[in-house]
This record gives sequence, C-alpha cells and structure tokens, in this order.
Amino acid sequence: MVMKWRTIVSVLWLLCASGAQAADYSPWQAQGDSIPEPLAGLQGDAGRGEQVLRDRRRGNCLACHQLPLPEEAFQGTLGPPLHGVGKRYGTGQLRLRVADMRRLNPDTLMPPFHADPQTLNRPLFPGKTFLAAQDIEDLVAYLATLKGPMPPPSSLRHGEPLPPAEQRPVSGYALLEPDMQAMQDDEFENPGFMTVDAGRQAFHARHEGGGRCADCHGEDGRKFDPASIAAYPKWDEKLGRPLTLQARIRRCRQERLGRSPLPYDHPRLVALETFVRHLARGEPVRVKVDGPMRPHLEAGRRLWNTRFGIADFSCADCHDRAAGQYLRGQWLSQGQANGFPEYRLKTGKVTSLQTRFTQCLKKFYAKPFPQGSPEYRDLEIYVMSRGNGLAIETPAIRY
Ligand code: HEC
Ligand code: HEC
Ligand code: HEC
Repeated sequence: MVMKWRTIVSVLWLLCASGAQAADYSPWQAQGDSIPEPLAGLQGDAGRGEQVLRDRRRGNCLACHQLPLPEEAFQGTLGPPLHGVGKRYGTGQLRLRVADMRRLNPDTLMPPFHADPQTLNRPLFPGKTFLAAQDIEDLVAYLATLKGPMPPPSSLRHGEPLPPAEQRPVSGYALLEPDMQAMQDDEFENPGFMTVDAGRQAFHARHEGGGRCADCHGEDGRKFDPASIAAYPKWDEKLGRPLTLQARIRRCRQERLGRSPLPYDHPRLVALETFVRHLARGEPVRVKVDGPMRPHLEAGRRLWNTRFGIADFSCADCHDRAAGQYLRGQWLSQGQANGFPEYRLKTGKVTSLQTRFTQCLKKFYAKPFPQGSPEYRDLEIYVMSRGNGLAIETPAIRY
C-alpha cells in the first residue's frame, strides 16, 4: 500500500500543470513561411524565453517537445525534438512557427500561441490569445540559440501509437501501471466503491413514506438487465429522443418517486448512476448506432472532431491522432468511456463522463458546454459507441 500511494503522489505532482493563461493579441503579417518583423517591435531575451518554455502555465513546450535540458525529467514526444532548431530556421521562420503553426500545417497538434482571436472557436477568454507578444519574442530568442545535434533516439521512452478506436478500441485500463490495475480490480482497495455504496444506499432509501428505487427494480437492483444498462445512451420511444443512463435515472427519480429535480451531475445522481452502471461490470458496451440514434451519433462525432479554445484542439487531436503518445509524462489514451463514472486520483473524486468532458475542454482553455446539454448528450453517445465491445469497468480508476 505504501508503494502504491508513493506512485500516486508522484503522478499527482506530475499532473499539477494548470492555471489558465491568456494574453492580448498584437496583429502580425506573415510572408511565406515567416513573420519577418518582431511582434509589436519588441526585443527578445533568450534567458526569459527559456523560463517561458519550461513554465507549464505558459509555453509548456516540454509537454510535446524534447529539448537539450537534461534536468527536465518528463519531455513529450508529440512534436519533433527542438535540438538544432536555431540552425534549421531563421528567426522569422521560428516566429511564425511559435505564433501560429496552423499557417504551415492546418492539422497541426501544436497550439497557436499568438493567433488572431477571430480564428479561434469558443475560447474561454474571448478576444485573447495564449502568450503575450513579449513571450513569443523571448521564445524566438531562446530557440535561435539551439544549434546542437539531435538527441540519440533511445534517450527517452517513446509512446507507441495506439490503433484507431474504430479498428480496435483499447480501454484506458491498458495504460495503467499494474499496481493501479490491481487497485481498480480489488473491490476493497478501489476508492470508487465508496460511491457505489453511497448509490446503493440512495437506491434503497425511503423518503417521507414514499417509494424506493428498489421497490420497482428489486433489492440491490436485481431486476435490472445488465446488457440493457450497458447499452446506454439509448433511444427512448416515448420521449422520441436518446437518454443517457443518468438522464434515465433522473426521470425515474422525479416521475416515479416524485422527488424534486436535481441538476445534471448532482453528486446524488452520479452516485446512483455509479451504482446502477456497476451492476453491468464486465458486460460489453453495446450502444446502438443505427436507426434514430444515427443523427445523434453523427452530431457527437462532429463535436469530437471540432477544434475548440485558444489552444485550438479537438478531442480527436489528442485521443485519435496522438493516442499512445506522451503529453508531458501523461500517456494519452483513446479517451474511452467504459469506466465511467470513474474515480480520478488527481481530484480524489468520482467523476461522471460529462464532467470529464468539461475537464478536458478546460484543459485546453475552451468553454465547456453545460452538463446535461444536448451537445454533451450527443458527444456521450459517440464517445460511448467508440468503445462498443469493451467491458464496463465502473467504477474505473484513472489519473
Ligand atoms: C501539444 C503539443 C505541442 C506543444 C505544447 C508545442 N508544440 Fe511545437 N510542435 C508540435 C508539433 C506536432 C510540431 C510539428 C509540426 C507540425 O505539426 O506540422 C511542432 C513543431 C514545432 C517547431 C518546428 C520544429 C521543426 O523542426 O520543424 C517549433 C520551433 C516548435 N514546435 C516550437 C514550440 C515551442 C517554442 C513551444 C512552446 C511555446 C511548442 N512548440 C509547444 C507540437 C507542440
Ligand atoms: C414505481 C416504479 C419505479 C421506481 C420507484 C423507479 N423506477 Fe426506474 N423504471 C421504472 C420503469 C417502469 C422503467 C422502464 C422505463 C420506463 O418506462 O420509464 C424504469 C427504468 C429504469 C432504468 C432503465 C433500465 C433499462 O434497462 O433501460 C433505470 C436505470 C432506472 N429505472 C433506475 C431507477 C432508479 C435509480 C430509481 C430510484 C431513483 C428508479 N428507477 C425508481 C419504474 C420505476
Ligand atoms: C490536449 C489533449 C486533450 C484533448 C484535446 C482532449 N483530452 Fe481527453 N484526456 C486528455 C488526457 C491527458 C487524459 C487523461 C489520460 C488519458 O486517458 O488519455 C484524457 C482523458 C479523457 C477521458 C477519460 C479516459 C479514461 O480512460 O478514463 C475521456 C472520456 C476524454 N478524455 C474525453 C475527451 C473529449 C470528449 C475531448 C474533446 C472535448 C477530449 N477528451 C479532449 C487530454 C486531452
């Protein structure tokens, strides 16, 4: 147990990158593959540039690039190593690459650090860009000093690309260390089971002489069909729209028990959802993708592929194209949903799928959609269906 918590603590330390940053935009003009004039006529400083580059709340360049900074333990492999970049490019070329790589490669995974805010979708900070003009000039001054050779190829662990989810879904479980997997599997060590128990209690609770969930669905939910639980989100004939498992529970709670409505992702609903979905543990996810579900699935797929926020990322950028790579020491998975609601070590909380969507969107400084919105519902349909065939793991453990 001591060993386990030590692993967890080091991982927590690793993940403490956060704290949003936003800066004013100084317009620039590109010529070919370069921005010849310094932004706002400012002068760069290489020493400050190195600080910006190391700072996780600012450049966070090491999240994706290797640099000749051997004391930095966790360097990413999503982008090319930056060794020798000052020899390969002039300062104008470096400036355009750091300001807005999309000009050179519209599909790039590199965030535009000083982009025209009008080219950004749903930014959390409207009208702002990521880094200040001075930061860009400092970075360019630092990068221009990098003239050394490329690193030997085996100096870091490289992520193996994962297969596309549509070919072969891979659960995030496969990316956990063996002691974390053992913790998830062990009902007594898995902290998510505290929420299962809270949900079980709510399921059997009687309020002011009213009914209980268990009155209709059996003691311990024995009358539920696990295969049917594993098929959520599901089409509802009466309502003429799809329902997530939590939305279904919420309706039952209001309509069949007459309880007052709770907002989507209220902890009590999440606990009930955790309890009910855990009854389908081991059952393969089987979301219907045809018939009336089809248009919702397609809407969810469009959202998955849409770029958002001042970092201009889509879900697909990280969970399809970069799946299997390291993002600053964090191994990117396919973003599967078969373990939700799941226990996150980072927050110490059981987290619903839609809360996870919000956490990912905020991670790249995009404005989240409201919990329970049609957008999140459709995204949930698409994300769950990408994992059709994976075993339900609720409550999973993840970082
Ligand atoms: C999310 C990942 C990511 C982050 C963060 C990131 N980059 Fe990149 N970067 C890339 C990728 C991927 C490329 C390859 C170019 C492409 O996508 O076409 C790249 C390319 C570059 C290049 C051109 C390298 C070459 O050899 O052509 C430079 C210079 C660069 N990045 C600098 C930076 C700096 C400086 C930062 C921090 C302010 C940074 N990058 C942050 C992903 C990233
Ligand atoms: C008075 C009886 C009754 C009570 C009480 C009740 N339900 Fe239901 N529940 C139903 C019926 C009937 C359905 C079938 C769907 C429908 O027509 O609404 C259902 C469907 C469900 C489903 C979907 C099952 C599936 O396989 O698709 C879930 C999950 C569920 N209820 C959870 C709950 C929870 C949790 C509670 C307590 C908060 C609850 N129900 C309280 C009658 C009840
Ligand atoms: C900048 C990269 C990045 C982007 C973009 C991103 N995520 Fe994530 N996401 C992560 C990281 C890092 C994790 C935790 C490690 C992992 O499972 O990949 C994660 C985890 C997840 C998980 C949990 C996986 C599991 O096994 O528990 C889901 C679901 C998810 N993301 C969905 C999304 C959705 C939906 C979007 C688009 C709205 C999105 N992500 C965009 C980085 C990203």
